[in-house]
Amino acid sequence: MAPTMADNSRVLIFDTTLRDGEQSPGATMTHDEKLEIAELLDEMGVDIIEAGFPIASEGDFEAVSDIAKRSKNSMICGLARANYKDIDRCWEAVRNAAQPRIHTFIGTSPLHREITKLTMDEMAERIHDTVTHARNLCDNVQWSPMDAIRTERDYLARVVEIAIKAGATTINIPDTVGYTLPEESAQIIRELIERVPGADEVIFATHCHNDLGMATANALAAVQGGARQIECTINGLGERAGNTALEEVVMAIKVRKDLMPFVTGIDTTKIMHLSRRVSQVSGFPVQFNKAIVGKNAFLHESGIHQDGVLKNVETFEIMKPADIGITETNIAMGKHSGRAALRSKLKDLGYELADNQLNDVFVRFKALADRKKEIYDDDLIALMTDSAANT
Ligand code: KIV
Ligand code: ZN
Repeated sequence: MAPTMADNSRVLIFDTTLRDGEQSPGATMTHDEKLEIAELLDEMGVDIIEAGFPIASEGDFEAVSDIAKRSKNSMICGLARANYKDIDRCWEAVRNAAQPRIHTFIGTSPLHREITKLTMDEMAERIHDTVTHARNLCDNVQWSPMDAIRTERDYLARVVEIAIKAGATTINIPDTVGYTLPEESAQIIRELIERVPGADEVIFATHCHNDLGMATANALAAVQGGARQIECTINGLGERAGNTALEEVVMAIKVRKDLMPFVTGIDTTKIMHLSRRVSQVSGFPVQFNKAIVGKNAFLHESGIHQDGVLKNVETFEIMKPADIGITETNIAMGKHSGRAALRSKLKDLGYELADNQLNDVFVRFKALADRKKEIYDDDLIALMTDSAANT
């Protein structure tokens, strides 16, 4: 069944880690790894999983097909170019899902029309024919005009109307090369919803790439413009600079309800585990200061910040680490740490110190921190053991 939007505040999360994410050079995953990631995405509450590009290879077909058979709650989607062979293969792969979807696309910008050597009219006809074909197979069809942002607005409106009339139930507006900025991203969706007949019968989706570091901002702006499906990947994995990061858009919607009065179906406490698994199986490390899931995203090292969070965690944290499934401590010990943090950390490790003992350990801790970039629990235990031996 194609999704309908009874609740206008609900934003669907479409995860394409296994398709656009896996297209990232070097991010190839094995069959079993794909099944595991799909299961985790389903458990986390992702509405639609784009499981692969079935015509691309036998391996992709098998993965999409097995993910479809095992799916529980998520819709399972496969990608197909605008030709019958791709669409038939895609349908074969997804048809056994509880909720299958065909996603078909064609590049509509002048640059892409030049490559496919189709005139505007020829392309319009191709869109009509292929979306009709997909819709005859499946009642849940997504259509994407690739490079929509660099497509002439009148032509974009024309082909979106054709796709809707041919039976598309979701219209995705991709910023394929990460070129747009938030205001334009919102405006394009708003304009299409206003001017295209039948637009209120379908769901508009946003699919952003991060070439200018704008993918999250552009996706959120598109939602403000009327999109109700965000296409994204775990850790922002994807070609070149990647796709919109799932964890960023989901947490932005959760944290800024005042500006973004929307909800997703994501169980955010599962984010960290998924982030780590995707990083492990794709071989793509997560940068330390990556928003939400970076190693340092919730760590405080400076004395002022540590003192602040020990007194009231909200002084320097806008969300709770537990909300994304982080259980580790948020205090990093280093040369910028102060006495309050050292006392608290030692207490966690089982050492209750009088002020004069703390002063003594603090001097030796600072000397060690000057020599060592990071101070681990074992280093502190060693300091305490030395201290005991010397008294
Ligand atoms: O970036 C893009 O345009 C895509 C399409 C296939 C939707 O990934
Ligand atoms: Zn893409």
